[in-house]
Amino acid sequence: MSVRPLLTEDELSPSTGEGFDVERVRRDFPILRRTVNDKPLVYLDNAATTQKPQTVIDAVTRFYSYENSNIHRGVHYLSEHATAAYEEVREKARAFLGASESREIVFVRGTTDAINLVAAGYLRPRLREGDEILVSHLEHHSNIVPWQLVSGEKGAKIRVIPMSQSGELILDDLDMLLNERTRLVAIGHVSNALGTVNPVREIVARAHARDIPVLIDGAQAVPHMPIDVQELGCDFYCLSGHKMFGPTGVGLLYGRAELLEAMAPYQGGGDMIRKVSFEGTSYAPIPSKFEAGTPNVAGVVGLGAAIDYLGTMDWDVVMAYESDVLSYAIEAIGAVDGVRLIGTAEDKTAVVSFLLEGIHAHDVGTIVDQDGIAIRTGHHCAQPVMDFYGVAATARASFALYNTKDEVDVLAAALEGARKVFQ
Ligand code: ALA
Repeated sequence: MSVRPLLTEDELSPSTGEGFDVERVRRDFPILRRTVNDKPLVYLDNAATTQKPQTVIDAVTRFYSYENSNIHRGVHYLSEHATAAYEEVREKARAFLGASESREIVFVRGTTDAINLVAAGYLRPRLREGDEILVSHLEHHSNIVPWQLVSGEKGAKIRVIPMSQSGELILDDLDMLLNERTRLVAIGHVSNALGTVNPVREIVARAHARDIPVLIDGAQAVPHMPIDVQELGCDFYCLSGHKMFGPTGVGLLYGRAELLEAMAPYQGGGDMIRKVSFEGTSYAPIPSKFEAGTPNVAGVVGLGAAIDYLGTMDWDVVMAYESDVLSYAIEAIGAVDGVRLIGTAEDKTAVVSFLLEGIHAHDVGTIVDQDGIAIRTGHHCAQPVMDFYGVAATARASFALYNTKDEVDVLAAALEGARKVFQ
């Protein structure tokens, strides 16, 4: 990949959104000024990871430059300062997710870590032979495999809410799938492979009618919509910092205090204990009980900056803008000769998955990369979704609030070009 100097602000894409100053937003993200293969970067791999605004980059740099210290462990100035910064982000995260108490926020490595924590700390001690865990056909592997690991140990079973050809969940049999053996429902808020927005509120209500707790994998939802865990009514909500303009290696688990308190620790180590002796150990209260070892302090500080950044957004305006770009992309990509769109749900956000007739998805990705366009190709860690459509892989353009219709046009033109090469 060729690396050229950053584009100047004058060379940035001229597109502007109605009611949303996308150019101002784009200026917040330095990487969007660079070129790839001598072309302006068109970054459409946001479901894999989002780019970072300067404020997040600065927060992490400032922390390491002037504030670095371990937390909860020192009486010196830097340690106290770093501890305060870390705990302030917990409070920010509480407000961001609409949780009622900051002790309901656990810092983790990301969504995968959060789900594994719940699988090990909540489910494993409660699961018995013949029990069931209900997931959906649309899940990412990280909302399937952790449940398989614990159910395999205990002789429990994974049950699956089916999906339709359009990529929507079929809830007709939900009341049969939710039964006296169901110990947990684990459901993605937004499908990473297709962009389908799942009816999580309804699923939570129907599960709760039977006293079954619900975990929501919110990794793909948080960068696109405001979240209120109390309004959703869920018991657990998981997210990754890097998919919401924050750093990699940090994320959040929200859990209702009552459930977190009743849970076993996930990992043992420093900072999660009250008293240790060779005879036995008692644990710190939540959330420390789940934060063994030195955490990703700089990552948490960066996540706080990402939460602040998202806090500057008017969500109604952002959502209208993103929806407009998505509709435009569905139309423009769908109009390319030989394109088959995969996943056409009515309620959808930020993702266009597709196949281009006669060209393997990986080749599509390689060809458009020559034009500086980053898309993801493959099974998107959602092989059951690929199996459903009878394909091994798709090409996926995934959008963030800084993408433009002009970028969609660049992708559509590159796809037209690819068709010509392979014809
Ligand atoms: N889960 C990420 C994706 O969808 C990595 O690409």
